[in-house]
Amino acid sequence: MNIVLMGYMGSGKSLIGKELAKKLNFKYLDLDDFIEVNEKKSISNIFKEKGEIYFRKKESQYLKEVLETYNKSIISLGGGTPCFAGNLEILKQESITSIYLHTSIDALTKRLLKELGKRPLISHLQKKEDLKDFISKHLFERSFYYNQGDFKVVTDAKSINQITGEILSLLS
Ligand code: S3P
Repeated sequence: MNIVLMGYMGSGKSLIGKELAKKLNFKYLDLDDFIEVNEKKSISNIFKEKGEIYFRKKESQYLKEVLETYNKSIISLGGGTPCFAGNLEILKQESITSIYLHTSIDALTKRLLKELGKRPLISHLQKKEDLKDFISKHLFERSFYYNQGDFKVVTDAKSINQITGEILSLLS
């Protein structure tokens, strides 16, 4: 059994995933980190040197590998993982519990404005208003995929402890 966390960039998948793994005594894995280690390149450099289509192919390949290799793990996906290459169907397997971390556009804009550098899809959006417009449209398109998760947890105005507590009670 594996638990996957999905949601937009900046929704807290990694932070919450690590905390949840500690509380459940599960292994923690971050799909982006797994891709970087295996490709021996940062996500930004993969986008820059090989392009998004290559990244999406590798993302799907490594998603399958991680799900086949690991058990009792919390896996933080990349923001786009459920939205490409049939990945959503893979995530619907019975042995996987998927959780959508839902964060408001305002909170995402505030957080992502400070972390543009490591996120190739938004690194060109330096102005707060432009970033907010992009997130609004992008999140709208992606919500169709995210909303197919087994559970949805709203993260706004909650501590990591509260969010993990909520997830634990959904899982019990
Ligand atoms: C992406 C999100 C990123 C990373 C890549 C593409 C996306 O992961 O996989 O930059 O398409 O939303 P995080 O959600 O961990 O930032």
